[in-house]
Amino acid sequence: MEEENDDLTWHKVPVKIDDTRNYVKALHVAGKKLCLIRQDDVLSVTSSRCPHAGADLTKGWCEGHKLICPFHRHEFDIVTGKGTEKQGNYIRMYPLKKEGDDYYVGIKRSLWDKIFG
Ligand code: FES
Repeated sequence: MEEENDDLTWHKVPVKIDDTRNYVKALHVAGKKLCLIRQDDVLSVTSSRCPHAGADLTKGWCEGHKLICPFHRHEFDIVTGKGTEKQGNYIRMYPLKKEGDDYYVGIKRSLWDKIFG
């Protein structure tokens, strides 16, 4: 099921989300590779490409509520996506919602989708 509004399309997460343990792993949805993070009380979906030099953040890990990039250890808040002040960068956050037993991730529609979708 895909529900749409002007800017977001909600895509059903195609795997069962385990909310009983911590992990950082890849999530493939709507042709995108995203990063699925469960850390204590936080469940997040972020972009998977590090804005510093393009490392795969799905190979990273969490320290507290920070996602650590495996290449040069940039840190990103897993709630806001913000890097530290010194880094001055950020990762994209994707909204996640639960309906019944299913999760949906909200992905912004591209200009192309808005015109031709
Ligand atoms: S590529 Fe992620 S910190 Fe450099």
